[in-house]
Amino acid sequence: MEVVCRIADMHRRAEELRIHGKKIALVPTMGYLHNGHVSLMQIARDHADVVIVSLFVNPLQFGPHEDYARYPRDWDRDIAIMNSAGVDMVFAPSVEEMYPNGFQTTVTVSRLTKTLCGLSRPGHFEGVTTVVAKLFLCTKPHVAVFGEKDFQQLVVIRRMVHDLGFDIQIIPAPIVRESDGLAMSSRNTYLNPAERQAARCLSQSLFAAQKLFEEGQRNAATLIECARARIEAEPLARIDYIKICDATTLDEVTTITRDAVMPLAVYIGKARLIDNVVLRLP
Ligand code: PAJ
Repeated sequence: MEVVCRIADMHRRAEELRIHGKKIALVPTMGYLHNGHVSLMQIARDHADVVIVSLFVNPLQFGPHEDYARYPRDWDRDIAIMNSAGVDMVFAPSVEEMYPNGFQTTVTVSRLTKTLCGLSRPGHFEGVTTVVAKLFLCTKPHVAVFGEKDFQQLVVIRRMVHDLGFDIQIIPAPIVRESDGLAMSSRNTYLNPAERQAARCLSQSLFAAQKLFEEGQRNAATLIECARARIEAEPLARIDYIKICDATTLDEVTTITRDAVMPLAVYIGKARLIDNVVLRLP
């Protein structure tokens, strides 16, 4: 597995691969890899000749009071995981490489970022779209894989790719969960044992609402109330939001008449966790 840290080297390697007719897949990550990330690498492998994983904890997408400094990092473990997942190349630039002195150019997706996580994390998605656009330019992929775990991020990236005409196919990957339902996340490491138990309320509340939906309930307020009740029964949990939105526009819906998504963000102690279920009409 090749490790590339400089943008100029990444450009050269990506160009060589393309000249040799290789199809490139990119899996952007912030490291501290888990099986959710590994599933993205496997999907990437199915769609390309060369799998590049980028590993970069992106300061631009963290707010001033967020967890950038303490975001978990473990280089050796990540390298071992990528090696055994059959990754071909790791792109791991430094902060100075990605944001040189005087950096002042950003990419903004204006409307889709004004809701859900965009409300409690101002500037977050601009940080994401800016870094992802730059990672695309550095690694020149034909396809890129993003997890449905970060559903709004996936929708925002799709919009950016469409709007700016990036010639890159965006492939969604289903949420990978722990055996008790908790969506895998690098941030789960923040949870102490009691909080880890409490964190089950996220998926349990979503699955309860999804069951009602599958039984025919189409009223968004009723489904949200069902999920809210489960979370409010958990003393360590504090709801940031629970909503039901159109799966492509992210507009809130009152009655589900098209495919929708039910995203939520919940604080468990200091950790802010997100999860969602897609409500697909039969
Ligand atoms: P990170 O949180 O490391 O996630 C990297 C990718 O893994 C994202 O596409 C995310 O949706 C996916 N992912 C995380 N947990 C998952 C799970 N349990 N199941 C399936 N997919 C999962 O998302 C980011 O990094 C950053 O915002 C990034 C896109 C790299 C830009 O900095």
